[in-house]
Amino acid sequence: MANFPTELRCRNWKPLWLFDHRTRVVEGDLLGLVGGAVGYRLLSYLSRVSPGNEVTTAYEGRSKMEQLFGLSIWSELSDKSVIDFGCATGMESVEIAQHTNARITGLDIREDALAKARVRASEAGVGDRCQFVTETTEKADVIVRLDAFEHFADPLAMLRLMRGLLKDDACILACFGPTWYHPLGGHGFSIFPYAHLLFTEGALMRWYRDKSGGEARHFGDVRGGLNQLTIREFERIIDQSDFKLERLGAVPIRKLRPVANRLTREFTTSVVRCKLVPRPGH
Ligand SMILES: C[S@@+](CC[C@H](N)C(=O)[O-])C[C@H]1O[C@@H](n2cnc3c(N)ncnc32)[C@H](O)[C@@H]1O
Repeated sequence: MANFPTELRCRNWKPLWLFDHRTRVVEGDLLGLVGGAVGYRLLSYLSRVSPGNEVTTAYEGRSKMEQLFGLSIWSELSDKSVIDFGCATGMESVEIAQHTNARITGLDIREDALAKARVRASEAGVGDRCQFVTETTEKADVIVRLDAFEHFADPLAMLRLMRGLLKDDACILACFGPTWYHPLGGHGFSIFPYAHLLFTEGALMRWYRDKSGGEARHFGDVRGGLNQLTIREFERIIDQSDFKLERLGAVPIRKLRPVANRLTREFTTSVVRCKLVPRPGH
């Protein structure tokens, strides 16, 4: 009987877990094909003629919290202490404060963003219930974590950190994406759909260094980080963490809704949203 290879590992490709671990296929460089000087020149040319994926407009003029978690999110957060982990300039922190009576701690490593968040909260009249800090030791009822898991160098370590900031009956409400096999899963590298898989990491990083300066050699080195997260890999990380998945929803790309299902989700999902709760005893 044929001895099937067990895993698809291409240069830019994470192992594909579409069906189960036995159907992962061939080791080699199926994609991430276009590299070297040709790849670099082609990328440089295409990036000038393609609008790319630098600007996100999906939530423009709409509430990201409501789009992701539904209107019930406001009652879910009422009376709670909430950490907006990676709050940036505090857009969602302030929105939570405006819709609920929650006490909010906006946490971020960027002091410049936190300064803007303080101004935003004060102008919105909710400065008394919002604090914006780089560190906290207070334990919260809920951590809201928007658009970050695909950027962490070590998501498991971040989950450990978050567990330390939560009470035992608390939860994390998170969303992240696009994940790696989304047509624009390469974020700034997806200058057209799937460009991040078509070109080799070497060619993409050379192009990135030209554009942004610096010494970045791998996706993980880019500003803000990019860890090539897939949905399956996220589930695997949660399995190893102090949390369990209470619910996970893969929100389909609108045009691909008819073909979106458990088997196709890596390619058809626009964002993943989930609720994580601490495992008993952890
Ligand atoms: C992609 S932005 C998301 C901002 C905002 N939550 C939103 O949904 O628009 C990720 C944010 O996480 C912050 N961040 C990254 N690592 C962090 C860490 N270890 N602790 C706190 N914030 C972090 C970044 O500075 C950045 O502001």
